[in-house]
Amino acid sequence: KKKLILDVDTGVDDAQAIMMAVTDPNVEILGITCCHGNTPLENVLKNTLRVLKACNRLDIPVHRGCSTPLLARKQHAGDYHGKDGLGDVPDPDAPGLELLQKKKAVQALIKMVKENPGEVTLVATAPLTNLAVAVQLDPSLPKKLKALYIMGGNVESRGNTTVCGEFNFVADPEAAYIVLDRYTCPTYIASWEFTCRNSLPWSFCDKLLAQDTEKARFMKKISAFSMKKAQSADYQKEVTEGKGFNSCDTYALAAAINDTLITESEEVAVSVELEGTYTRGMMVLDYMDLLKKKHKAVVMKKVDLEKFKQMCMNSLK
Ligand code: BDR
Repeated sequence: KKKLILDVDTGVDDAQAIMMAVTDPNVEILGITCCHGNTPLENVLKNTLRVLKACNRLDIPVHRGCSTPLLARKQHAGDYHGKDGLGDVPDPDAPGLELLQKKKAVQALIKMVKENPGEVTLVATAPLTNLAVAVQLDPSLPKKLKALYIMGGNVESRGNTTVCGEFNFVADPEAAYIVLDRYTCPTYIASWEFTCRNSLPWSFCDKLLAQDTEKARFMKKISAFSMKKAQSADYQKEVTEGKGFNSCDTYALAAAINDTLITESEEVAVSVELEGTYTRGMMVLDYMDLLKKKHKAVVMKKVDLEKFKQMCMNSLK
């Protein structure tokens, strides 16, 4: 089985990613570490437990992580995910936070990786604060990882949060900088533009959410708010070029569990802009090797869409 740790800021697409990991029989989730991001940390924790409950998997350890970025001002993505991060649908039966593990996310992350050297794939779909703090505490952590998959950054300076910046990187640029600099393990990046270009057609989304399962009903409920947003003419025109719905985090997770999913990618050194009036938080790609960085990341370009659709279908079964 593939051993995974998920670092999340559970909004709607993190929820879909978690469900995909939980449902795959070839995956073992060692733990889920939570970070501020789409919504304040307290909501992230609650949302993560809600998703696990919908999957009947409250046995998976969930850890409380960083509630603020390293230096940046805190920001959330309520406009897209709803104020509570999961579409603002009331859930009176949400599990309580007493179910959280005592160990905090960063310590848990370090421990889980140490106990499984060379075996853990870390999938980060949140601002990278937890990962940055972890490598500061344990500089040998990246060497012990099998791979790191990140949803974040952009490849053509098309922003979704600032003019040039993608949310996860803009929400903590210093953390993103540290992670891209220090995690010298095999690193795979699902950028914002990549997810837009490989969006799921709406007709497929209808089929996906119409499945007669508890998980599909849950997903349909929590994604209604963001789907409506994504269906707006402006979003379709400017973001996915009419292609459909981009469940961003799910691409990173799917790529981590299926080695044949990505059909086109490129290896390039990457970093993050930390200053700049318009460009702070933007990922930069060093095609000319001017930064002389030894470590290159694999930047995803194309996905096998049929395979991805099948994985999405299975995730809600
Ligand atoms: C990323 O930001 C969040 O809104 C999504 O969950 C995803 O991780 C896309 O920019």
